[in-house]
Amino acid sequence: MRQRRPWVPLALVLALAGCGAPVPRETPAAALPPMPEPASGWTAKPGWHAQRFMVAAANPLATQAGYDMLRAGGSALDAAIAVQMVLGLVEPQSSGIGGGAFLLLWDGRALQAWDGRETAPKVADPRAFLKPDGQPLPFLQAIDGGRAVATPGVVPMLEAAHREAGRLPWARLFEPAIALAEGGFAISPRLHSLLVGNARLQRDPLARAYFFDAAGQPHPVGHRLRNPALAAVLRAIAQRGSAAMSTGPIATDLVRRVDQHAVPGVLTEADLAAYQPRRREALCTDWLQRWRVCGFPPPSSGHLALMQILGVLERLPPPAQPLQGGLPGPDWLHQYTEAARLAYADRGRFVADPDFVPAPGGDWSTLLADEYLRRRAALVGARSMGQAPAGEPVPSPLSWADMPEQPEHGTSHISIVDGEGRALAMTTTIEYLFGAGLMADGGTGLGGGYLLNNEMSDFSARPADSQGRPIANRIEPGKRPRSSMSPTLVFDRQGGPGPVMSLGSPGGPAIIHFVAKTLIAHLQWGLDAQRAIDLPNFGSFNGPTVLESRRFPAATLDALRARGHEVNETALPSGLQAIRRTPDGWSGGSDPRREGVVMGD
Ligand code: GLY
Repeated sequence: MRQRRPWVPLALVLALAGCGAPVPRETPAAALPPMPEPASGWTAKPGWHAQRFMVAAANPLATQAGYDMLRAGGSALDAAIAVQMVLGLVEPQSSGIGGGAFLLLWDGRALQAWDGRETAPKVADPRAFLKPDGQPLPFLQAIDGGRAVATPGVVPMLEAAHREAGRLPWARLFEPAIALAEGGFAISPRLHSLLVGNARLQRDPLARAYFFDAAGQPHPVGHRLRNPALAAVLRAIAQRGSAAMSTGPIATDLVRRVDQHAVPGVLTEADLAAYQPRRREALCTDWLQRWRVCGFPPPSSGHLALMQILGVLERLPPPAQPLQGGLPGPDWLHQYTEAARLAYADRGRFVADPDFVPAPGGDWSTLLADEYLRRRAALVGARSMGQAPAGEPVPSPLSWADMPEQPEHGTSHISIVDGEGRALAMTTTIEYLFGAGLMADGGTGLGGGYLLNNEMSDFSARPADSQGRPIANRIEPGKRPRSSMSPTLVFDRQGGPGPVMSLGSPGGPAIIHFVAKTLIAHLQWGLDAQRAIDLPNFGSFNGPTVLESRRFPAATLDALRARGHEVNETALPSGLQAIRRTPDGWSGGSDPRREGVVMGD
């Protein structure tokens, strides 16, 4: 994999090279990051089967839109575009045209990796999220308003991918969302629950008028919500492509909302017009000798961390009883969370937009090299290391500071296989719940609109540590923030050319654990896709060990504590979607913690 050498100013070269007296490295306290969007209770899902094609998404109306496109002869990509446009309407808290996405697409012959990540404005300030005293703003302050908005990327990215892999006309793919936006859709229990008490949304005039009644109460479950402004914006994009959003009145309105917010941002129409989706090279890593797991490269940290965890586990002596009573047992959880600590330490130091930050040794695969993973695995002992240090995959003069773990939120995942051997995994986001809490309506004044992302807060709030050592994922103009999104396609090295599995999840930094759990439970332990998703969640972000609340027996918590783990039970609300090839077609699973469903023929 070749990396473009970034331009680095002299002062930064000196800092990176660690010139002058050696400075002790600060290892930031790895607190438990606040968990992303809450779950929607637990709705048991049956698991689904189909023979030819299948679509899995986070809301039944969105799944239906994708299904309709597949039935109409559309490709997996066509279906994904229809799903995305409906998700932005019916699941506006998680993704939409005001955000970004990573798409991993098997086009029937080759793997494509499309980067539609949001991008920092051209005049973005590396210190935008610091208070005058140099300390980071509290997270809930940082995510709010225009300052947090980065240039959206999902529409231009889907348009570029559609030029290569679309079968149905572009405009056709917007019809389901436009019809639902005009005719109205029934507010789901999940959307309603996230609106209750949401003072942040009430501060935005468009959002307040759209989501709440005249008394300031959120519209109830089942209320038919119409969004004529979004219908008009989608119609313009359907007719004129992404240019309708990046230039002209829709762009002018977007920039005006950001600029005139009480906490203004620096996004300009020039930023919108200049946005380019990127074609990247997918990362593919062999696992358990049989599987080839493919995922997204930086700016996502997802695949690297996922495969570091799986790779370290593969190099440890397997515990006698990984599962106890059908759940991961303490010996296995100890190994898993130690592997996770090591992976999150590397993630915090090395991973950032590859157009700005070189990979260690010039190639991200150094983080997954056999010799390096053996060295990392050798650090796993009988007791928890508590907090792991980042490693040194290759000797390097570069010396980044560790980025403290920060909250990341939002997102939604789509998995689709079509009837002609194409498949995709796409994870899509506006970051926090309802993004920046800021709506734009294309200047239509029709009522409703779409939410703008707060992806700037996925950058490190601190540009450097207290010694001045730069953090790789700091804000820089035109840079893409590091992500945890982990759209994943799995290939069988002993089988045919196409993917045998597509999966992914929302969940901020916990996405990596959710995907790891599902892969292990399905491909290693043999649970079917739905049961693998149902399994309790667990992980570590290089701090405490976190277990999904009330899903593990007390004996497991006690055994982990006896090995030195600080154990926290917490909500770990995954939103996994998975599709798996079977001898007679496909089986699909959707997370019981959220509202997703699977459809297929
Ligand atoms: N904003 C969540 C992510 O990109 O991982």
